Amino acid sequence: MSTAHTWLVTGSSRGIGLELVRQLLEDPSNVVIAACRNPDGATVLKALHESDAAKGELHVVGLDVSDEASIRGSVKAVEQILGEGRGLDYLVNNAAAHNGDDSAFAFSSEAFTRIFQTNVVGPALMGEVYLPYLLKSTRKVIVNTSSGLGSISLDEYGPRFTTYAVTKTALNMLTNKQAKARPELTVISLCPGWVKTDMGGEAADLEPHESVSGILKVVTSLGPKDSGKFCRYNGEEWPW
Ligand SMILES: NC(=O)c1ccc[n+]([C@@H]2O[C@H](COP(=O)([O-])OP(=O)(O)OC[C@H]3O[C@@H](n4cnc5c(N)ncnc54)[C@H](OP(=O)(O)O)[C@@H]3O)[C@@H](O)[C@H]2O)c1
Repeated sequence: MSTAHTWLVTGSSRGIGLELVRQLLEDPSNVVIAACRNPDGATVLKALHESDAAKGELHVVGLDVSDEASIRGSVKAVEQILGEGRGLDYLVNNAAAHNGDDSAFAFSSEAFTRIFQTNVVGPALMGEVYLPYLLKSTRKVIVNTSSGLGSISLDEYGPRFTTYAVTKTALNMLTNKQAKARPELTVISLCPGWVKTDMGGEAADLEPHESVSGILKVVTSLGPKDSGKFCRYNGEEWPW
């Protein structure tokens, strides 16, 4: 008999986050807290309740990662779902925004600030706010969803996509700092590959289900020795 695991996934209304929730619900032992900024509009997510394939427990919670009050305000609902004594096994910081192509010498400071808030400050606050619940759990895992674009040594796009790339590099440093500050946690940065979503576009290499089945294999096999790593969806380690 498997033990129940609790998951909190941000940005679950569509794309990789939605597919994560869908696959997690195939396992009856999973309790999935699917966070999204507009639960009323998340019709596909909410329809998972009715799917025959969904065997796990689904709870949809409103949470805008770019809004500190929304992050802090989500705790009450999550606490009620977890109940007394049960911690949060997996925090998956998946939500992110992309502002398209820009360069180091031609960018919008408004967009830079906004994307940084969503992609870096949001995940950092999520870690801080949900730390007590992670510490109460058996797994204690934080997954910061990064990108190969955040790797300085790979940098396949040269001068392009500057704002988004900078936020993912900063997120990687957050992973490093979180792993060092709390050795009892397992914290990783994870690149999902290039995936066919609204963000990845139609030309991408992977279908969401291919990326997510890999992600879940990687994430559920993580142990403390993996903390502070930058992994890909297929288990490879990515250079910083
Ligand atoms: N797709 C790729 O090829 C690729 C490659 C590398 C890394 N990634 C990373 O993988 C993750 C998921 O990407 P994706 O491709 O699934 O992107 P996507 O299709 O654009 O979906 C983004 C998700 O994030 C949510 N979101 C955006 N801003 C938010 C906010 N302020 N608060 C809460 N939720 C917010 C969106 O919610 P709404 O529906 O409310 O807008 C949506 O659910 C991201 O971290 C992305 O950077 C993706």
